[in-house]
Amino acid sequence: RVVAVIMVGGPTKGTRFRPLSLNIPKPLFPLAGQPMVNHPISACKRIPNLAQIYLIGFYEEREFALFVSSISNELRVPVRYLKEDKPHGSAGGLYNFRDQIMEESPSHIVLLNCDVCCSFPLPEMLEAHTSYGGMGTILVIKVSPESANQFGELVADSVTNELLHYTEKPETFVSDRINCGVYIFTPDIFAAIQGVSSQRKDRAYLRRVSSFEALQPANRSLPTDFVRLDQDILSPLAGKKQFYVYETKDYWEQIKTPGMSLKCSGLYLAQFRITSPHLLASGDGTKKASVSGDVYVHPSAKVHPTAKIGPNVSISANARIGAGVRLVNCIILDDVEIKENAVVIHAIIGWKSSIGRWSRVQASGDHNAKLGVTILGESVTVEDEVVVINSIVLPNKTLNVSVQEEIIL
Ligand code: GDD
Repeated sequence: RVVAVIMVGGPTKGTRFRPLSLNIPKPLFPLAGQPMVNHPISACKRIPNLAQIYLIGFYEEREFALFVSSISNELRVPVRYLKEDKPHGSAGGLYNFRDQIMEESPSHIVLLNCDVCCSFPLPEMLEAHTSYGGMGTILVIKVSPESANQFGELVADSVTNELLHYTEKPETFVSDRINCGVYIFTPDIFAAIQGVSSQRKDRAYLRRVSSFEALQPANRSLPTDFVRLDQDILSPLAGKKQFYVYETKDYWEQIKTPGMSLKCSGLYLAQFRITSPHLLASGDGTKKASVSGDVYVHPSAKVHPTAKIGPNVSISANARIGAGVRLVNCIILDDVEIKENAVVIHAIIGWKSSIGRWSRVQASGDHNAKLGVTILGESVTVEDEVVVINSIVLPNKTLNVSVQEEIIL
């Protein structure tokens, strides 16, 4: 049997995702019309003998209660949210709930970061893991050498796939192969985490009884139950025949900023073409708008037949899209109104916002630039004939003059 665990973090993490995470926990922000964490959950459904999915985080329970009950019913897999009383780090969080996780006596534990976007080749990874025979298998991808230092860089044996060397976000280049935040473990991982934690306790004791602390300043502030999977487990255990890698040739992105969420929404829409084409809008119905490329429209949204939509557009519940509107590369959240002849390009329009007639909300579309995607927070009003370019607008603002390259607080 297999148990899947998705690390969802908590409100003190994901700050780069503001202002969108002011309304909703980042893992529930919709990508391709579904909460971010739905995508890894759906991928877990393809694992043979999956017994249970746990979400571990330090958000309040009530923030996830509705979500876990509806997704459990929909997918017919038990999904439960487990709340940490404080952040324990990516490995410490797992260890904190070892008793619940081991209740099902799983042979394997699938561990996923919630803020990565990929095809989650989990059955393939499980198969590879079984053939390698170690304690864990890590999903890796080749990225450009310039971008590798934002991630865990690693070196693996090209024949055996054994993890030989691991450095988290190194200052000097190590490798263009990086950790994707998707893992398969045997339950031995708990002993490894326990080992790190006991070592910390011993050091803390030594520090109290000697001047050891002066020699180990880097370890001074870490609590004994705070254990990071990357620095504290993968780095020291690399090269010991415990961990192996599985390289994906598919797409992979990390979702830390609103701009990246727009890009990932597009990647998931493109995947729907293969996995769930019924979710994509097609412009063939007589009352439907003209649609190009991958588009998702919630059944409760109203789109005027003269609107032109796509590619990469997601329209959430109860949105109203007026006559002659043009939407390209954007996410339109719940209850938004876009009035006649407005244009939205490379943008995310927050819940209950309204865009006036003949207005334009747009950006350069560079997902890595700070203002490359225009973001409107919740309940922002853009009046008629106003142009908003490369800007971020915080909730509840009204714009009656045009703005460019601005953050409106
Ligand atoms: N429950 C819980 N508790 N979750 C946590 C905690 C915690 O204390 N700390 C982090 N997480 C979750 C985050 O929400 C995220 O899903 C995942 O664990 C990893 O977050 P970080 O530890 O902040 O690392 P990162 O995202 O900067 O980088 C990690 O992931 C990259 C892939 O996306 C590293 O493992 C990198 O090596 C890797 O490339």
